[in-house]
Formats: sequence, structure tokens, C-alpha cells
Amino acid sequence: DWTTGNVIEEQVAAIREQVGDKRAICGLSGGVDSAVAAALVQKAIGSQLTCVYVDHGLMRKGETEQVEKDFVAATGVQLKVVDAEERFLKALAGVSDPEEKRKIIGREFIRVFEQAQLEIMQEEGPEVAFLVQGTLYPDVVESGGGTGTANIKSHHNVGGLPDDIEFELVEPLRQLFKDEVRMVGQELGLPDEIVQRQPFPGPGLGIRIVGEVTKERLDLLREADAIAREELTAAGLDRDIWQCPVVLLADVRSVGVQGDGRTYGHPIVLRPVSSEDAMTADWSRLPYDVLAKISTRITNEVKDVNRVVLDVTSKPPGTIEWE
Ligand code: XMP
Repeated sequence: DWTTGNVIEEQVAAIREQVGDKRAICGLSGGVDSAVAAALVQKAIGSQLTCVYVDHGLMRKGETEQVEKDFVAATGVQLKVVDAEERFLKALAGVSDPEEKRKIIGREFIRVFEQAQLEIMQEEGPEVAFLVQGTLYPDVVESGGGTGTANIKSHHNVGGLPDDIEFELVEPLRQLFKDEVRMVGQELGLPDEIVQRQPFPGPGLGIRIVGEVTKERLDLLREADAIAREELTAAGLDRDIWQCPVVLLADVRSVGVQGDGRTYGHPIVLRPVSSEDAMTADWSRLPYDVLAKISTRITNEVKDVNRVVLDVTSKPPGTIEWE
């Protein structure tokens, strides 16, 4: 019989058998899959697991704290947080092209993660042999069955790393669909804010600023995004929409009138969509009063933003994210 209790029991036994008395590492992204995978492995092997969270400075308001505090409190997991904000901002300085941004963020992420792995191996000894991944059943099917090992290639700036380290993968979610992963996470006692989280791209807010990514712009977008999320949640709409990217058009200015005078500020775009699988999407017909509240609050509370616009494009032709 399929029950979350059975799935957890089976996976815990399988993980113990696979890992034995060796050690495992798991990268946390703040997303549902890696969180549930880590919680399962933690339940199975406890302190033999170390989680790594790379804070690239591109997260939304409160998300890093959610991992650092709530996830750790719920699981008791051993967590290494790497504060890499400065490094990412430096690498992104002067870059506006979306693909280039994505490449830079991906590259820096791997470097920082590998450095953290290396440090953990130096601290814990060479028996770190397992890498936990939150691969789901649809990912397995899509990639034609999958392999069992990952080659983590070394980089020239990571001193002392062998040419490539071979990790064996631990993938406790390989037989599960997304909704099942959420049920397992709930059963494991993870907070709702993590288990019910909507999709969020790995490159984070870096691809929601049209134009160059700077700390100032990120802070501004974080405020606008937090307001939109707060109001959507207050209106009970979280389950109705797939996700709602909030985008800062940093290279666009328009004239406004605020307080005592003329302003020349940036627009914020709301991109609420409904979807089944993100392959296609429709724009969500949100209630006007909710949109009005979000618009009023953003223009009142966020510095340098004097206009809020709604994206009414389906996918195709528009993608969900703007970059
Ligand atoms: P698009 O913009 O292609 O997005 O319609 C489809 C879905 O994928 C998410 N997305 C990403 N997720 N890394 C991720 O983990 C990425 O680089 C990335 N880019 C887009 C997006 O939020 C949407 O749910």
C-alpha cells in the first residue's frame, strides 16, 4: 500500500543500507525537493549528513533565514551556510545579458559548492562518498533512466582537489511525484512554508532584474516581491496560482507624481501564472482589488518604484520568467 509512512520507512532503510557508516553531503536550494530529500536522509543517517546552503544573495526576503532557522529546527540537520553574496555580485557586475547572467550564476554556484565540499571533506575525513539529490520521478523519466554516479569536476581555483571526485548519488525521491514529495515532507514535520513553496528559479532574483544586477536593485526587488507575496497569501490565492514572478525593469524609467512632486522611477512587473507543469502557462486572472492593493503598497513602500504593471501574456509566446 502506498502511504507516506511506508515510503519513509522504505527509504530510510534503503539509505542506511546504501550509505553504511560513510558520510553524505546535500546541497539545499531552499526548494521543496532538496529539503525533503535532506530531511529523509537526515532521518536515516543523522549526523553522518552535512547540508550545504550557498547564499548567493539572490534569494527573496526571508528565504535564507527559513533554511537556516526553520529547516534546521524541524530536522536537526548539520548545516554549513556559505555567504557568497559579495562574490556573486562581483561576478555579475556590468552584466545585463540574461544568458550570460545565468552562466555566471551557475558557474559561481558550482565553484562555491565544490569549495564547501572540499572543506567538509577536510574536516570530516575522506569517507564522504555520497551526494544527496532531490531527483523526482519525472526527472528520471525525462533523462532516460539516469545514472548512479556524479562526476564533480574540479576547477583550477579549487586547490587540492583530485581531477574529479566520484560521489555515489543518494536519490530518495526517485519514485515520487511532486505532490507525493510534499506529503512526505509534511509527514517528516517540515514547515508548510517550505513544503508548499511555489517554484523559484535557481538563479533567483538575478534573472528578475532586467538590466545589471546590483545590491541596491536586489534590495528594492526583494521589498516589492515580499509585498506581492504577502498580499497573495492574505487573499488566499497561493494554491490558485502556479507562481508569480515579480520583475524589476531596472533599465526603464517613467515619469510619475508622488508626494510633492515629479518622480522618474522604475516599473515593477507582476507575472502571476497558472500552470500544470510550467511547460505551458496562462496568466492568472487575479481579482482587481488584490492587484490594486499590491500596486498601492509597492508604489508607497518601495523607493524608486512609481509604476506597477501586469503581464497578460500566456506561455507560449512568453516564458514565465522574463530572462
Ligand atoms: P520559463 O521562464 O522557462 O520557466 O517559462 C519555467 C519554469 O522554470 C523555472 N525556471 C528555473 N528553475 N533554474 C530553475 O531551477 C532555472 O534556471 C530556471 N529558469 C526558469 C521558472 O521559475 C518556471 O517555474
